[in-house]
Amino acid sequence: MAEKKFQFEYEVYDDINELQKDDAGLLTKARAVTKQAYAPYSNFYVGAVAKLNNGENVAGTNQENASYPVGICAERVLLGNAAMLYPGIPIDTLAISYDSKEVKSDHPISPCGMCRQSLLEYETRTGKPIRLILAGQEGKIFIVTTVKFLLPFAFTSGELL
Ligand code: THU
Repeated sequence: MAEKKFQFEYEVYDDINELQKDDAGLLTKARAVTKQAYAPYSNFYVGAVAKLNNGENVAGTNQENASYPVGICAERVLLGNAAMLYPGIPIDTLAISYDSKEVKSDHPISPCGMCRQSLLEYETRTGKPIRLILAGQEGKIFIVTTVKFLLPFAFTSGELL
């Protein structure tokens, strides 16, 4: 028998003023783009903005539906936009924020399981780790340097080929 451990490090910042200029700019955009979410059912508005390796920005917001499971998270809307607008270009950094009519937006949220799976495949197929900036409209900010950390024991294309 062998016991193994999965561990990862991430950075915690007290607020946006502690971030590097580029990261602060990206987070400001993610916070603002929450206004474009379509979330009349959950009243939970998620905004994601990525800086690509070619310097371009791509955004996504959650798009809900009266048939609830049809709704799509902000992260996967962003990935679809990035893949169509800039095929093959890696994502350097992805900022994710949210707003809500029900709860305070004062701490980071982290992508849901389905989005982790999609983000991981995007990271793998473009060959570059995606840095994640996670934050509410206020409060602490987390920076994680690769999606791999968020999805240990991932199921990947390697199992199929
Ligand atoms: N949502 C996202 O867009 N991204 C996440 O990382 C978590 C959840 C959306 C899905 C749904 O529209 C709403 O937030 C509440 O779950």
